Amino acid sequence: MRRVAVLTSGGDAPGMNAAIRAVVRTGIDQGWEVLGTQRGYAGLIAGEMVPLHLRDVGGIIQLGGTVLGSARCPEFRTVAGRQKALGELQRRNIEALIVIGGNGSQTGAYALSEMGFPVVGVASTIDNDLYGSDITIGVDTALNVALEAIDRLKVTASSHHRAFLVEVMGRECGYLALMSALAGGAEAVIIPEIETDPEAVAAELRASYERGKPHALVVVAEGARYNAEGLAGYFEQHRERLGFELRVTILGHVQRGGAPGAFDRLLATRLGAGAVDRLATGEHGVLIGLLKGEVSATPLDEVVAKRKPLDRELLDLAQVLAK
Ligand code: F6P
Repeated sequence: MRRVAVLTSGGDAPGMNAAIRAVVRTGIDQGWEVLGTQRGYAGLIAGEMVPLHLRDVGGIIQLGGTVLGSARCPEFRTVAGRQKALGELQRRNIEALIVIGGNGSQTGAYALSEMGFPVVGVASTIDNDLYGSDITIGVDTALNVALEAIDRLKVTASSHHRAFLVEVMGRECGYLALMSALAGGAEAVIIPEIETDPEAVAAELRASYERGKPHALVVVAEGARYNAEGLAGYFEQHRERLGFELRVTILGHVQRGGAPGAFDRLLATRLGAGAVDRLATGEHGVLIGLLKGEVSATPLDEVVAKRKPLDRELLDLAQVLAK
């Protein structure tokens, strides 16, 4: 192997830069030339690639976002788009591609590897919805951002005996919401994986006040049927009968923008280096993730076909601890 390319794709995640740095420096250590592709698959199709040297990735380990840029790229979902990307890779004599990203990005990586091109994925998304990695790059930092907000909201909620609703990201996955609720001590949590009755949430909040709590906090996942809009709308519609109102905070992209904490820097460093290690031994068509504390490779076909299961025990625990 003489020449590889790396790209970041989909929603940015704190730690992506640490992964780029690890890929570039361990790749160069292998004697390879490493090219950075800008704007994810969009840049790949457009042939936007620049050589990355040791110094080019200096001073980025502590930065959020991605210095390579990222994009959502509908064109790469088409055969024609992927053919163009493949052509750009071949034209530059690039022999392998490392894709740092989440579900959609790894689906793209799988499609490219099915066309015969060597690809290795690196598990990176704040959603933590990727099969093949117990935890993905960016999750820990995003959770800490959510927790800081939750802690602050609890203070003001307690001062006013108010009920608050905080919506976190996560797409169709409730991981961020469940972990924020557990670590933030929320009174209720609503996630897409479980059908929730808003009346039961109202009863839970009322019971919290009756037990003497000065506040009531609900964490909802954006992908749940009763997300911020759905639940706030329901409470507003039945305000008289339910007896209280909900103040709403949607955290949104704030969760993605943080500087990576120690956990994400180390995880990204290990996974980026792991991707290069695997490529160096001739392995590809896999996702590099962390499984039971070990850097591991899972075939991309499995990654795209399977869903990471929800930890029901943690959901039960959140409900017990909310008392
Ligand atoms: O996948 C990461 C994520 O932040 C999701 O949690 C969220 O639903 C989505 O990206 C938002 O995407 P965009 O930044 O394209 O609006």
